[in-house]
Amino acid sequence: MATQREDRSFPEGFLWGTATAAHQIEGGNWNSDWWEFENKKDTVVVEPSGDACDSLNRWEEDLDLVASFGLNSYRFSIEWSRIEPEEGLFSHAALDHYRRVCLGARSRGLLPIVTFHHFSSPRWFAAIGGFESPRAPELFGRYVKKCSEWLGDVIGLACTINEPNIVSMMGYGLGVFPPGVQNASDRQVAVNAILLSAHQRAVQELRSGPGDFPIGLTLSMAELVATEGGEESRDEFQEVMEDSYLRGTKGDDFIGVQCYSRFHFGPQGFRGPGPGARSTPMGYEWWPQCVGATARRAAAVTGLPVVVTENGVSTQNDAERIEYVTEALVSLHDAMNDGVDIRGYLYWSLLDNFEWTFGYGQYFGLVEVDRASFVRTPKASAQFYGAVARSGVLEVPTK
Ligand code: BGC
Repeated sequence: MATQREDRSFPEGFLWGTATAAHQIEGGNWNSDWWEFENKKDTVVVEPSGDACDSLNRWEEDLDLVASFGLNSYRFSIEWSRIEPEEGLFSHAALDHYRRVCLGARSRGLLPIVTFHHFSSPRWFAAIGGFESPRAPELFGRYVKKCSEWLGDVIGLACTINEPNIVSMMGYGLGVFPPGVQNASDRQVAVNAILLSAHQRAVQELRSGPGDFPIGLTLSMAELVATEGGEESRDEFQEVMEDSYLRGTKGDDFIGVQCYSRFHFGPQGFRGPGPGARSTPMGYEWWPQCVGATARRAAAVTGLPVVVTENGVSTQNDAERIEYVTEALVSLHDAMNDGVDIRGYLYWSLLDNFEWTFGYGQYFGLVEVDRASFVRTPKASAQFYGAVARSGVLEVPTK
């Protein structure tokens, strides 16, 4: 039987991109709290980041790849610990580096989407308490102001803090991110409030600096499902992890949605997806439809346009990545057809890279990176995704 096809068109100007983060790809990020954390004797991190993908040196090659696939945007983060290596000491050389990256993106037809904080902080900042310190919003704001003076005229879109809800949960709940504190829910909630005010401070600084670009927060979200009796714990989780942040984005230009799966809640609270559920090597339930669901919820709660600033799958079977992205984009397209204002989709990630606590044992990339030579080899999924981006049309096989 011949396979039928259904075409789904995305609007002109839709952002098609891919994302990375400094600590996961640059290499040698030794002045950050993450480096310290992953190199401690008793660390929970399976291996240190070391040279990562050597992108500090190979950033032009990375940009060439993104452009060659046919994408129109690239999200990357700038590393606070390089830009402000000691409190109040700013490195113009580091700022110049990131300026070259922004300009390099633009010269290749890519909109530079800049994240100011993606999980890693300078060691001096961690030493004064990181985002537990009442000084954090002011210090983060000062760093953002400095960056804005240097880069404001070349930034295309700004993401203030990446997944602040994960920073606090992993750092003070599960203890698998710095500072490695477990089960301190009061501290987790307090850190959430400080992170939110640091975000708001950053928005003000960026707005009053040079350039004119949309500014938003990028939040980790999941499709949250309660079975009977699980509603209360679902709502509690939703409040701490998502709604408290979503409410704090009033006046922003967009909300960045980042999602990978869905979570289930029963009478005993958080529970697994149940027997027989398909899962990914990260241990997540295979649920690409979470993209449409979370985008809908984020838009409804905030009233802001949505950019899906991260979504993707870790797999060594690249055909699965194509399947995942197709299903994710179908769910997004359905939401757009229902009137949800969605402006873009950024696949996580460009490269197979340092997956935090999991080290190099996860494979989210559109591009494989040889761990010894750093040679980059695009996968079939990069060509597939690029073709969708170039044409703006997703072809979905139907039965
Ligand atoms: C983070 C990325 C991470 C990805 C995959 C997101 O939570 O922003 O840094 O690599 O998920 O786990």
